[in-house]
Formats: sequence, structure tokens, C-alpha cells
Amino acid sequence: MKKSFAFVAGIIAVSGLAFTMLSSPVTAQKKGQSRPMTTAQLMSGLVKPQLVAVQGHVADEKAPEGEDGWKALTTSIALLNESSYTMMDDDRCPDKIWADACQVLRKATESGLKSAAKQDAAGVREALAGIGASCKACHAEHKYKKQ
Ligand code: HEC
Repeated sequence: MKKSFAFVAGIIAVSGLAFTMLSSPVTAQKKGQSRPMTTAQLMSGLVKPQLVAVQGHVADEKAPEGEDGWKALTTSIALLNESSYTMMDDDRCPDKIWADACQVLRKATESGLKSAAKQDAAGVREALAGIGASCKACHAEHKYKKQ
């Protein structure tokens, strides 16, 4: 009798745990599966600084200064484009919201690279709006809802 009670209690405990795991809300995707870099490091070390660099080149109706300026701008957009692949690698992507945000980032940076190749600062500013939208879309679900 005692034994079967323990068994039933065990079943309840296990199903309770399973229920908690299934029903817990989506949490921030802190890392991929096997590579050491955390998502926070990717963001603070690569993504944010390159976004700030792009903004610095074209904000307030500005245009990059000289060939060196355009070259530096192009490098920053290319690194942001690359980050859209890194964010998807190593099983880091948890859901469609994440994947869609990466697609938005990829498309916007591709368009930004085209504009930069033509030294079209207004085009880069337009791309910047798309890049910003991708940060927002992913963060709304995966950064601010984190536990
Ligand atoms: C596909 C999802 C995704 C996209 C796109 C994304 N982020 Fe993030 N970002 C995250 C997640 C998840 C965190 C929280 C990581 C954590 O705290 O573990 C984060 C955190 C950050 C942080 C805080 C890092 C820290 O040190 O805690 C910064 C800054 C940041 N993101 C900047 C950006 C910028 C700028 C963009 C757009 C150019 C961007 N992110 C696009 C998912 C994304």
C-alpha cells in the first residue's frame, strides 16, 4: 500500500515536471548548442558596435567621408549581414520569430550593401530602418521576455 502510494506520487511529480517544462514561456536563447560564444557576446561585441558604426556614417543626412569612409561603412554592413547567419547557426534559433528577424536583417543588409556599392547614403539610411526593425522584432520576443 505504501509502495503504490510512492509510485503514484512519483507519477504525479514526473508529470508535473513535464507539464512545467512544456508550459514554460519561450526564454532568451542564450547560446547555441556546441560553440562557446553566447548570444549576449554576439550582440555586444559584434552586432551593436557595427550598427552604431553604420549609424555614425549615415545618420542626420550625413554621407561617409571619402573612399575610406565608404569602405568602413561597407565592412560594417557586411559584418551585420554575416551576423544574420551566425544567429541561425549551431541550433541557436528557437522559433519562427527568430528566423524571420534574421531574414529581415539579411535582406536589409543585402540592400544596404548594394546602396553602399553605389555610394548612395540615402539608400543605406533606408536599409538601416530594416536593420533596426529586425533588432526590434527579435528582442520583443527573445530579449525582453527572458526569465
Ligand atoms: C534573432 C534574434 C535577434 C536579433 C535579430 C537581434 N538580437 Fe540582440 N539580442 C537577442 C537576444 C536573445 C538577446 C539576449 C541575450 C541574453 O541576454 O542572453 C539580445 C541582446 C542584445 C543586447 C544586449 C547584450 C548584452 O550584453 O546583454 C544588445 C546590445 C543587442 N541585443 C543588440 C542588437 C542589435 C543592435 C540588433 C540589430 C542590429 C540585434 N540585437 C538583433 C536576439 C537578437
